[in-house]
Amino acid sequence: MSNPSLLILPGDGIGPEVMAEVRKVIDWYGAKRDMAFDVSEDLVGGCAYDAHGTPLHDDTMAKAQEVDAVLLGAVGGPQYDDLDFNLKPERGLLRLRKEMDLFANLRPAQCFDALADFSSLKKDVVAGLDVMIVRELTSGVYFGEPRGIFEEGNERVGINTQRYTESEIARVARNAFEMARRRNNRVCSMEKANVMESGVLWRRVVEEVHKAEYSDVELTHMYADAGAMQLTRWPKQFDVIVTDNLFGDLLSDLAAMLTGSLGMLPSASLGAPMENGRPKALYEPVHGSAPDIAGQGKANPIACILSFAMALRYSFDQGTEADRLEKAVETVLADGLRTADLLGQEGVAPVSTSQMGDAIIAALDASL
Ligand code: IPM
Ligand code: MG
Repeated sequence: MSNPSLLILPGDGIGPEVMAEVRKVIDWYGAKRDMAFDVSEDLVGGCAYDAHGTPLHDDTMAKAQEVDAVLLGAVGGPQYDDLDFNLKPERGLLRLRKEMDLFANLRPAQCFDALADFSSLKKDVVAGLDVMIVRELTSGVYFGEPRGIFEEGNERVGINTQRYTESEIARVARNAFEMARRRNNRVCSMEKANVMESGVLWRRVVEEVHKAEYSDVELTHMYADAGAMQLTRWPKQFDVIVTDNLFGDLLSDLAAMLTGSLGMLPSASLGAPMENGRPKALYEPVHGSAPDIAGQGKANPIACILSFAMALRYSFDQGTEADRLEKAVETVLADGLRTADLLGQEGVAPVSTSQMGDAIIAALDASL
């Protein structure tokens, strides 16, 4: 049997630096756990625009469709701000999500014990936090038509459309219920059914799927604004949150920051199963390209490394090895290692991106 295949798209800014540490982890699994991957690398975002005049070359798109999983670093940078909308780095990422049909975006917000002090909230509110946000990723206002900037009378009007079909809602709801069954069996669905018809349909369809297939899971609903408030008030009340593309974008940033650092959080974007039974999948850190610190060895590689742990779990059925990698991250944090984004304690000097990666490799070695 051939090795599982990975396409690595480091992207822009700190993307290449954090991805270099993930490469060490991938190599470690090949050398020490007999889990070799066929790895290829390509461009996405601003660097792809610089090389090819497009944020995602068609050949790269085709490769992404063929591999078992895509790992992405980050895209974007201020030098691309004035580009035509369709050439912007972010369009490369959105094209990958859309054409691979990665409709379920899993964004865990987990608070590592060693970092509970970094949250802007009180320690007892966040210690032990473990929430999973399931964000719909290929529809809603991000993709709905009509969209654009038009002339109307003597002024311009900007238009985007929130649009959800029943099947789009049902499939992401199923994903959330399945996730809940593997966790604490609770789903909270968030929309704005009080003001949006798409929200009314969202709530109805989630209820129908629940009643027909998942009545063993506890289901609650919240308006998304109240949900944001509850997430800051007492986040531990949630297990799985399922929500649309735009609300999920906002709520996942909020949930991420509760845990202390955006530099820590991974994500998985999953689609329908391929012929080999694996879901179409793209894994990426929640953080962006952080151009202000790019190239300085300051970036935290943990979110990207934990994204690979999610790949082990969701694409390659290697839950035990994913646990091992997550444990290795916990170990180095408990040992006091901190990249610059995690500083705050006096007398602690930051470690570099590659020192953090090396320490995680050492912790992996020690786990054998
Ligand atoms: C995210 C980002 C993206 C989004 C951007 C970069 C297009 O904010 O993944 O949360 O809005 O989905
Ligand atoms: Mg976002």
